[in-house]
Amino acid sequence: MAPLISIKSSDEKLEIVNQLLLPHKTEFIEINSVNDAHDAIKTMKIRGAPAIASLAALSLSQYIRRGLSASPLPEYLESRDALKTHIDSILAFLFTARPTAVNLGAATRRLGRILDTGIAAGKEPRTIAQELIAESNAVADEDVGRNKEMAKWAGEWLLQRVRDQAPGTTAGDLNVLTVCNTGSLATSGYGTALGMITYLHETGKLQKAYYTQTTPYHQGSRLTALELQTLKIPSVMICDTMVGSLFQHHNIHAVVVGADRIAKNGDTANKIGTYNAAVLAARHKIPFIVIAPISTVDLDVADGSQIPIEQRPALEACLVRGILYPNEGKTEQVQVMITPPGLEGVYNPSFDVTPAELITAIVTEKGVAVKANGASTFDLSPIV
Ligand code: MRU
Repeated sequence: MAPLISIKSSDEKLEIVNQLLLPHKTEFIEINSVNDAHDAIKTMKIRGAPAIASLAALSLSQYIRRGLSASPLPEYLESRDALKTHIDSILAFLFTARPTAVNLGAATRRLGRILDTGIAAGKEPRTIAQELIAESNAVADEDVGRNKEMAKWAGEWLLQRVRDQAPGTTAGDLNVLTVCNTGSLATSGYGTALGMITYLHETGKLQKAYYTQTTPYHQGSRLTALELQTLKIPSVMICDTMVGSLFQHHNIHAVVVGADRIAKNGDTANKIGTYNAAVLAARHKIPFIVIAPISTVDLDVADGSQIPIEQRPALEACLVRGILYPNEGKTEQVQVMITPPGLEGVYNPSFDVTPAELITAIVTEKGVAVKANGASTFDLSPIV
């Protein structure tokens, strides 16, 4: 079966799969404006750091394309000053959709640079507009290729490391645990941590992929489960509370996760629960691998304490979504409240920060970064 996709984009239409309805219903919704894109990102109809950056960029591309084919031309395409003010305000608006994933900010800054460079060079507004369209499309398109590179770097590195430590290990033996959803649905395709799992499977190195449910949004039990099932990758779901038990009773060779933002020293923000898995991995001497594109590294942030952590609405932690069971063939989605109504004290951060000290390797499209001998942090500046 073909891998799932999160975004369908053509000159005529921009669509996303509504991830709030997965895995029980695959419904594509049209994105017809920058406002639609902002809303879809904020309400998590689309999520995953690279995917939200791609959608933001593609919605700008759609907006400008429509402007260029309008008659008369919209005012913002009449002068460089108008173009600058107008596009800057759209980029600033898109940037506010979700705060933790740096990819969104990296994409909006990158497009802002195209705008500023074109203006400084005295180019025609229409020429700059065309350049913005090309760059926006590039943000989305370049994601798949680099995911495949990272997956291979990480997969080969892990197999080598396991073999160095346990020479009898053969390809086909590897068991890995992942958190959240980092596959095709979270990116423009193939995925980061899930990309590595796919690579291990495709090359006959994987025994089993384990994944946490990843409450409260259930990226694991809803989305990773669906992706692994679609790709026919042998896998086992565990509840978030079972990571320690898994490590005590099963031979797990690595924990592999994606990232929403990586600080200069390697501290990594990722889905809530990642830090718990890292602490337990350290206790069990299991390598902990972060896989993310270079654009996820934020050199302006010295360490994890400066990464803004999104707090999601309390209600999201009080509800579960799904279909009724037994369902007698009905697949409409219901939301079930699992707490007493009106519960006041709810802590619901969407992400946590895993200190570099607990991370064995950070893998990007440029290769595998490890800490210098004896160091507790990474120096990522040379690779960015
Ligand atoms: O809140 P989400 O679902 O957008 O969080 C997603 C994650 O934390 C992912 O692990 C991260 O964005 C990397 S996706 C390749």
